[in-house]
Amino acid sequence: MLWIASSLSLLSVTAKDLHFYEPKNGRGLKHDPFNAIIAPRPIGWISSRDGKGNITLAPYSFINGFCYHPPIIGFSSTSWKDTVANVQQSGEFVWNLATTDLAKQMNATAAHVAHDVSEFKVAGLTAVPGKVVNVPRVAESPVSFECKLTQIIQLQGANGEKAQAWLTLGEVVAVHIDKAMIRDGVYQTGLARPIVRAGRRGDYFEIKPENMFEMVRPD
Ligand SMILES: Cc1cc2nc3c(=O)[nH]c(=O)nc-3n(C[C@H](O)[C@H](O)[C@H](O)COP(=O)(O)O)c2cc1C
Repeated sequence: MLWIASSLSLLSVTAKDLHFYEPKNGRGLKHDPFNAIIAPRPIGWISSRDGKGNITLAPYSFINGFCYHPPIIGFSSTSWKDTVANVQQSGEFVWNLATTDLAKQMNATAAHVAHDVSEFKVAGLTAVPGKVVNVPRVAESPVSFECKLTQIIQLQGANGEKAQAWLTLGEVVAVHIDKAMIRDGVYQTGLARPIVRAGRRGDYFEIKPENMFEMVRPD
């Protein structure tokens, strides 16, 4: 009896009509779902400076936090772009929070402009000098992390073949938070209204306080 019940429940779980594919052979869909499934992703709005002092600002959604002590964040450049080259040269970068209010400006900073043209100017944003690193932060953004480079890792496939992608990791050495985002000593993620990246080229979600729910973990 028990055997029949567990077989039936296995059948109902496995009976889903699944779209299956192995990425190396194509996906059989109009748009690669990878980005839409690993979503939403935070946006790392990264400011950086090259060896000559040129300043760059660009969004990176292959980004996350990886370590508490020391605090380490990382972003991946899907080719050798100016930002990763700058960080390699200067050893520093700043992560800025992209919010609903700043969505258009954030998008404008993804434009391809000449290396000596700063995206701060293109998007009409204010560059404020860093306190610990020699890279400006976005004054309009409610949160910025000043970071020092720890590692640049060229990614590779399971077969060991190098990918044209570089993961840049940095230690957060200074933090700026608009005090309006802090209530009773607790940073309120939703108050800043961060925008997060979804699937296709133009898809985003907005984080709102009312979408939060609490679930305490068992350990
Ligand atoms: C929301 C958003 C997220 C992006 N995420 C990435 C990313 O994770 N990796 C990447 O290489 N490019 C990403 N891009 C594209 C870069 O921002 C774009 O290529 C930019 O021109 C790079 O600037 P840079 O060469 O000054 O570093 C993203 C663009 C947008 C609008």
